[in-house]
Formats: sequence, structure tokens, C-alpha cells
Amino acid sequence: IRVDWDAVTAEKGGFDHFMLKEIHEQPKAYRDTMLGRMDESGRKVVLPELKLTQEQIKNIRNVQIVACGTAYHAGLVGRSVIEEMVRIPVENDVASEYRYRSPIVTPETLVIVVSQSGETADTLAALREAQSHGAHVLAITNVVGSSIAREANDVLGTLAGPEIAVASTKAYTSQLIAFYLFGLYLAQVRGTMTEDAVAEVIAAMEALPEQVESMLTNAESIKGYAEQIAEHENLFFIGRGQDYAVAQEGSLKLKEISYIHSEAYAAGELKHGTLALIEEGIPVIALATQEAVLEKTVSNIKEVKARGAEVMAITYEEHVAGLLKSVDQAFAIPKTLPILTAAVSVVPLQLLAYYASLARGNDVDKPRNLAKSVTVE
Ligand code: G6P
Repeated sequence: IRVDWDAVTAEKGGFDHFMLKEIHEQPKAYRDTMLGRMDESGRKVVLPELKLTQEQIKNIRNVQIVACGTAYHAGLVGRSVIEEMVRIPVENDVASEYRYRSPIVTPETLVIVVSQSGETADTLAALREAQSHGAHVLAITNVVGSSIAREANDVLGTLAGPEIAVASTKAYTSQLIAFYLFGLYLAQVRGTMTEDAVAEVIAAMEALPEQVESMLTNAESIKGYAEQIAEHENLFFIGRGQDYAVAQEGSLKLKEISYIHSEAYAAGELKHGTLALIEEGIPVIALATQEAVLEKTVSNIKEVKARGAEVMAITYEEHVAGLLKSVDQAFAIPKTLPILTAAVSVVPLQLLAYYASLARGNDVDKPRNLAKSVTVE
């Protein structure tokens, strides 16, 4: 018998690409990032590694979340999590813009920089800018010994393990977990959530790994749809609230590795211009999980359907039948709390990008023009 073996194949652990392997590692990354950060009763988040004092937390007046690329998209979810749990105003910035807009930073500003590698030059420069105004900077990063981790005042590590594929997957979802933990922690200290409400979120977080595992046992179910969209040059993602944040990440993932042009739009904003681009047969991927705005999203779906779009919806099982009256196909995801949905709903979009890239014969793990870590401004 001749066995073909090389180090890279072995590292891929039986998967064809690092990206697919890393998508499948997400349940473990969720568990590892949560490990030891919830107390035994399951009713409290504990983050002993933080230097941020209770006094400082009580004095925070505003939060700025600064990052690039996929980490920026995690920050968009982070914003809605912190605003909802803690009721503090949060701004998001792409790091390359932050310094140049003279951000209003005071010692009562908490700046959160998010970076998988901890080496992104723009993010590091933003961290220094924030510190020069006296802000406390918390880094959410996957690399503990990185430049950003070393310079930040505080580090909340994601435990996703090494991420090799240029298109980030498990680092993004681990960043979401870090935001959930941190949001709950702030809420505990500031008393903005009851103990029961915290416990409810913790219980739902603990269910996430298995929910993602169950989706991944059917990873190929989205392959057929990916092959359909691989024939197109343009498509749209729409969603509201956290669905919009996830839509932006889904669009980026697809662009990065399939080279299909796509745009993510807040579903209600499409009619203010971009609707002009909707024509017969154009694919529209609608994220429709946020129940508080579901009906509104459905009316936006009808707007694009009426102009000939082919709509695929991502939603909870219980809404599939209802949505199928307005869309061409629907993909069901496991039910979680609205605030945690991104950690579930992004998974089919990662797989969609992966299979679309494969269908187009692209180099999935090393897309053209891109680098895993960008250390130039
Ligand atoms: C590069 C990568 C992206 C990543 C971004 C930020 O552009 O290709 O996938 O999201 O950098 O990287 P960071 O390491 O700071 O999260």
C-alpha cells in the first residue's frame, strides 16, 4: 500500500481545506472560550483575568469598538449585545478610520479592540490613539502574546486555537462569545440585568456548541444553493438588527473567497436607492431571525420578490412554513435567544461562501490579493 501523506494534509485533519476544518472546530472554540468563565451555579459570569475594576466599570460612559474586517463585524454584534445588556452607548469604528476622525475619548471611555491575530497595524494604531486620551483599552484577541495583547490594558482571550485559512470563521464566532461574556459581566456589575436574566443567557450560551454541531452534521445541505449562486456575479444580503450585522459578515466571507460581488443592506434601507439594482433572477439572501422585526423584514422581502429577485431566507424552523409564502427557499437554523443568534446564523453563510468558492474552482484557503494578517496601514 502506498500512503500519500504530507504535513499540510495531516494538519487539515481529514478536511479538504483549513477553512472547512475551522468551521467544524467552532463548537470546540465556543466551549473553550466559555470554559471557566461561568461559575458553577451557571448564574454568573466570572472574568478574573480582567484588571478593569468594578469602580471603573460603574464609571464607563461610552464604549468604542474598533477593529478591521471580520473582527469589525464581530464588533457590530458586540455593540448590540452591550447596548441591550448594559444600556451604555456604543460606537463601532473600522480601525483605519478611527484615528482620523478625532474620536471623542475620555478616561470614562472603554475602548474594545478586536483582533484575531493581535497584529493588525491599523488596530494597534487605534489602541495607541485611545490610550493617549486616557481610555482603558480591552483587547479581544486570539493570540495572547501578540502586540495588541501586550499593549492593551486588559485582554479577554478567545480560545479558538490557530486559524490558518485567510477567511476567518472560528475566530469571529469566538469573538461573539467573548462579547456575550463581557456584556453579561458588565450587566452584573452595573446591575442592568437580573440574576435570572443572566442565567437564562448563560443557559442558552451553553447550548450553542451542540446546536452548531447539529448544523454541521448537515453541512452539505447548503452546497446545492452555493452552486446556484456560484453562477452569478452579483447578489444581496438583507437583514435587520443583528441579522444585518451577520449579513455584512456573510457578504464579506462570500466576496473574500468566491469573488462574487455582494452587498449587505439593512433590509429597510434597500428602497432608498439600491432597490434599483434588483432585477429578474438576482439572488437575495434574507436573514430573518429577529422576531421583533420579522414582519418588517418580510415586507422588505416582498419588495425584492416583486422585482424578480430569487430569495433564500435563513430563519428558525418555526418560521420556515410562513416565510415560504414569500421566499423561494428557506434554510432553518436552531433556535436560540435573539441576542445570541449571530453565533448560529453565521454558520450557514460560512458554508455558503466555502461551497461557492469550491464551485468556482478558487483557492479557498488562500484567496487572491488577501493576507491573513495585515501589518501595514
Ligand atoms: C485581514 C484578514 C481578515 C481579518 C482582518 C483583521 O484582512 O484577511 O480576515 O478579519 O485582517 O484581522 P485581525 O487579525 O485583526 O482580526
